[in-house]
Amino acid sequence: MIKNYVSPEEADKSTLHIWGRHPLKGNVKISGAKNAALVVMAAALLSPEDCRIRNVPILADVTRMGQILAALGVKIEQREDILDINASNISKSEAPYELVSQLRASFFAIGPLLARLGEARVPLPGGCAIGARPVDLHVRGLQAMGADVQIQHGMVNACVTGASRRLKGAKIYLDYPSVGATETLMMAATLAEGETTIENAAQEPEVVDLANFCRAMGARIVGAGTKKIVISGVRHLHSADYSIIPDRIEAGTFLVVGALPGSDVSISPVIPDHLTAVLSKLEAIGASITIEEGDRIRIVAGETIKATDIETLPYPGFPTDMQAQFMALLTISNGDSVITETVFENRMRHVSELNRMGADIRVKGNHALVRGVPLLSGAPVVATDLRASAALVIAGLAAQGQTTIQELQHLDRGYEKLDYKLQQIGARLQRVPAETKQESLVAGCELTIK
Ligand code: UD1
Repeated sequence: MIKNYVSPEEADKSTLHIWGRHPLKGNVKISGAKNAALVVMAAALLSPEDCRIRNVPILADVTRMGQILAALGVKIEQREDILDINASNISKSEAPYELVSQLRASFFAIGPLLARLGEARVPLPGGCAIGARPVDLHVRGLQAMGADVQIQHGMVNACVTGASRRLKGAKIYLDYPSVGATETLMMAATLAEGETTIENAAQEPEVVDLANFCRAMGARIVGAGTKKIVISGVRHLHSADYSIIPDRIEAGTFLVVGALPGSDVSISPVIPDHLTAVLSKLEAIGASITIEEGDRIRIVAGETIKATDIETLPYPGFPTDMQAQFMALLTISNGDSVITETVFENRMRHVSELNRMGADIRVKGNHALVRGVPLLSGAPVVATDLRASAALVIAGLAAQGQTTIQELQHLDRGYEKLDYKLQQIGARLQRVPAETKQESLVAGCELTIK
């Protein structure tokens, strides 16, 4: 049975109150990577034997992925950050629409289902807050591997014909290094007949983590983490016991928190190599960074925040999942910064909310011009997507006065115990259920830790 830290229903109704401009100092423990955990959970469908996945963050998205696996007939149990998955009896090849529509990552189940059963029916994930996010690259790759894929009435129906019902190895070139498509095709290829090559593959650390998990189950994969991945199909994958990498986006978010004036924050465990682009921008902004003991990073904020330009790119470029948080930080820099979003087409929805807090940001197409202001002022704001909500938290921590953030279900999709972790380093914030009266809050004092 999977439980969340805060259920989506609870989160929906509560607001996060932040009293800004308190010095943030101390250590933060970084959880396992959400995006790696989600795809590794889907990959556990490839094996009929027991899989144990460790260091899984306790998040609403992980709960949803667990529900999807359970709906397919998979046995799944969670104890703290350990998930035990047994997919020996997959009773269905169709993922339920209500669940897939809530979690785009669940579309990735199509690859393992097709590889294991020779058929899969998965609803199109549909649009989402940060852009259209099509799945054409996933579909074209599966077709190249011999699958018959039809999209009808919002459902992707895929099957492999022939006596063996096995996908066939293929040479695939991705027009764009899509993380999801690389993962779907890599999983599908593990059980295919012959060799599959994915050219222009995504090089994100989560792709490497997935490859390592598949290898732990007996898959033959080389090149993950480079632009060319080669997978030699095997007939059977066995059990595995695997630990997820630390979340580089959660780590990056806390590093941005540590770059706020007066802060001195250490984060661990992390893999500093996964954060190269983020650390380079934090140094450009004027923060001082020290890598301690291999898996710990300390950030000490500079006297001022220097303006800098940022362009999001596939890994190892600057991550789109860190764009909103850096924008929040640069609102109080001492100059003008241009932020260019190249990965998703609608990922600037935090701008209007940041401007409500006194920021000076103008958007033209996929560029945002951020003119630094001396101070943000607390305001009621609404979170629109996961990383946008993190940006509003950062702005709230920097702002004078009280900020209240609504629609916390976005935040809880991807940050484990964010309120608690921030309180541990001295932030003044409180999650308040809808019915609580404003007067009963004591600004900045006697805060309850949830
Ligand atoms: C994953 C991450 C997400 C991150 C993103 C980019 C998960 C669960 N989510 O999302 O947090 O922001 O990588 O680092 O791992 N595209 C197509 N056709 C396709 C697939 C993608 O055109 O078939 C486009 C998308 O619309 C987008 C771009 O490619 O513009 C990047 O998407 P992709 O790398 O696939 O991101 P996701 O896997 O969805």
